[in-house]
Amino acid sequence: MRTMSVRRFIPVCMFAVTLAGRAVFSAPQTPAPAADAVTFTEEQATRGGEVFSGVCLECHARKDVSDAEFKGKWRGQSVFALLDRISSTMPESNPGSLSRKQYLDVSAYIAKLNGLAAGTVELPDDEATLKKQILAFAPGTSVAR
Ligand code: HEC
Repeated sequence: MRTMSVRRFIPVCMFAVTLAGRAVFSAPQTPAPAADAVTFTEEQATRGGEVFSGVCLECHARKDVSDAEFKGKWRGQSVFALLDRISSTMPESNPGSLSRKQYLDVSAYIAKLNGLAAGTVELPDDEATLKKQILAFAPGTSVAR
């Protein structure tokens, strides 16, 4: 085996040192921008629960919109995406037939069923805000059975 020439060996060493330095000294990377939490109130979720019982329960069990499969599908998406899906396709028998407020309320209810925390600010009817609010569902947090 030929020994490595000095001209080749030095750059290899410098590369190794650079890599090691990166790993050791630049550990805390700039964190990704935090996603906004979904905002809704208890009252809004309660109103949404009434919509769910009156309209959605005809076809859906509560677990259909809160089990692990549902979470896996919607986790990381915006609350706007969910609202948009519901308001443009549900109830399947008559899409778009509810008021905007009812669609917002039922989305708040689904957020609550999936373990998100209610607060003091309602889910607003504001597309830009709703697009920034991310469904950060934790595993195993369904309220419904
Ligand atoms: C007449 C029956 C019917 C009613 C009423 C109904 N749905 Fe649905 N819904 C369906 C069917 C069927 C699907 C699956 C087919 C599809 O994807 O469109 C579905 C799909 C969904 C999904 C997507 C589920 C997923 O896994 O991503 C959501 C969310 C949803 N419905 C919410 C609602 C809400 C909220 C209401 C009440 C406002 C409602 N649905 C009322 C029949 C219904």
